This record gives sequence, structure tokens and C-alpha cells, in this order.
Amino acid sequence: MAATGTDWQSWQESWDRQQEWYMPDREERFRVMLDMVEAIVGPRPRVLDLACGTGSITDRLLKRFPGATSTGVDLDPALLAIARGTFEGDDRVAFVTADLKDAGWTRRLPHPTYDAVLTATALHWLHSEPLAGLYGQIGGLVRGGGLFMNADHMIDTGTPRINAAERAHRHAAMDRARAAGAVDWAEWWAVAAKDPVLAAPTAERFAIYGEHADGDMPSVHWHVRTLRESGFGEARTVWASPSDSMVLAVK
Ligand SMILES: C[S@@+](CC[C@H](N)C(=O)[O-])C[C@H]1O[C@@H](n2cnc3c(N)ncnc32)[C@H](O)[C@@H]1O
Repeated sequence: MAATGTDWQSWQESWDRQQEWYMPDREERFRVMLDMVEAIVGPRPRVLDLACGTGSITDRLLKRFPGATSTGVDLDPALLAIARGTFEGDDRVAFVTADLKDAGWTRRLPHPTYDAVLTATALHWLHSEPLAGLYGQIGGLVRGGGLFMNADHMIDTGTPRINAAERAHRHAAMDRARAAGAVDWAEWWAVAAKDPVLAAPTAERFAIYGEHADGDMPSVHWHVRTLRESGFGEARTVWASPSDSMVLAVK
């Protein structure tokens, strides 16, 4: 329990449960992500946790690699409050408030380059044009020999019947979990809005984001091609589920 009286760990756990309602294999993708970090840059990496939310990647990173360091970047004041509360006093971790759509966001970072830039379930909020611009910036942030990984929803428009069947099957499982008490995004935020510490930053985040709108979620082929055009010598899928993919690019 932190000095403020807020139990940050329980917020982390409820965030994890809410995200797992959408992605039951969320922990598996984090594991594979860290396997590839270890394989390519070793167990003491300097990491940028991009669109970090509550710092879920940073948390798994430091538990597995205590010699790692992490910079978390996000725009959401409520999720960043949970992240900052959780890692308070840990000098391996820093958080930066920035909008990834701002041309100058990289100037706010404490380091000019990183061994690994990691992101999950976030960049689908951006449309392909700003996302391509962001990939160009990430190409400049990763050091030579370093890596970028993105685990996210990526849609192949060439397979509409597979997509529709997969979506219906996934949503049926989500409906069953909801009936059994799982908390979704809207409900989780409704609880945060009533919390004495998170109410103000939650109101602020809704003022910033408004009603959340997804981007166009381009295919894995688009991500691979755009990363190659952004200074990465190699890029390919290293993990996939029926709905999501994780792309790894090495500079
Ligand atoms: C679903 S959360 C995922 C957070 C975390 N990566 C995880 O796996 O739990 C998506 C995150 O992307 C962040 N995000 C979306 N657009 C952003 C932008 N333009 N700038 C900074 N962060 C952004 C949101 O604030 C949110 O924290």
C-alpha cells in the first residue's frame, strides 16, 4: 500500500483482468516479447515502453530482468498515475507524458536511443499515416542492432470470411466471460471515475481522448513493409493469435 493510501497493485491487477477479457493470451505475448528482447539485446536492456498505460510491459520486464531500465511514455493521466504510483522510488523507471502524434515527442525522452522499443495493444489507436510517421521516429530511437516489437490487432482484409468467423467466435467467448462477471473497458473506467484519487485524472483523460476511436488497423504485411522503410533491416511476425500479431523489427 502506497503512502497515499491507494493500493496501486490492485489497480494493476484489475487493469490486467480487464485487458485479458479482450486478450486471454496477453501474458503469453509478453513472455514471447521478452524472450526476443533477451535473444537480441540480452538481459540488461534499456527499454522504451511505448504507450505504456499502467506500465504492464515495464512490470514484466523488471520482474524477469532486474538489471533492465525502462522509460514509459503515454498520454493518459489516469493510467500514468497508476504507473507512477506503482513504480515510485524505483530509479530504473521513468515515465513521460507525451502524445505520440506530436512531432516533437521524442525530445521529452531522457535518452537519445534505446536497445528495445516495445509496445502492445496501443498503436491500433493511430491511423496508418500517423503510424508510419511514428515508425520513422522509432527507427531513429532504436540503436543499431536494437529492436522494436509491436503486439496488436492487425487486420488482413484479404481474408474476410476467416476474420468474421474469428471475430464471432472471440466475441461469443467474451460474452460468456462477461456473464460470469468479467469487467470490460467502460465498466473499469466507471470504477476509476468514482475513485477519490483517480477521479480527476480520469475526467482529464476523457477530455483528452473523447470517445475512443480506433485507427484503420493495417495488416501485418503493412507493418513489416513500413518498418523496413523506417530503417529496420529485418522485420517479421514472431507470434500470432487468430486476431492479433506481434511484429519484431531489428535495426
Ligand atoms: C489498451 S492501452 C494498452 C496499455 C499497455 N501497453 C498494456 O498493454 O496494458 C492503450 C494505451 O495507448 C495509449 N495511447 C493511445 N494513443 C496515444 C497517443 N497518441 N499518445 C500516447 N499514448 C497513446 C493510451 O493512453 C493507452 O494507455
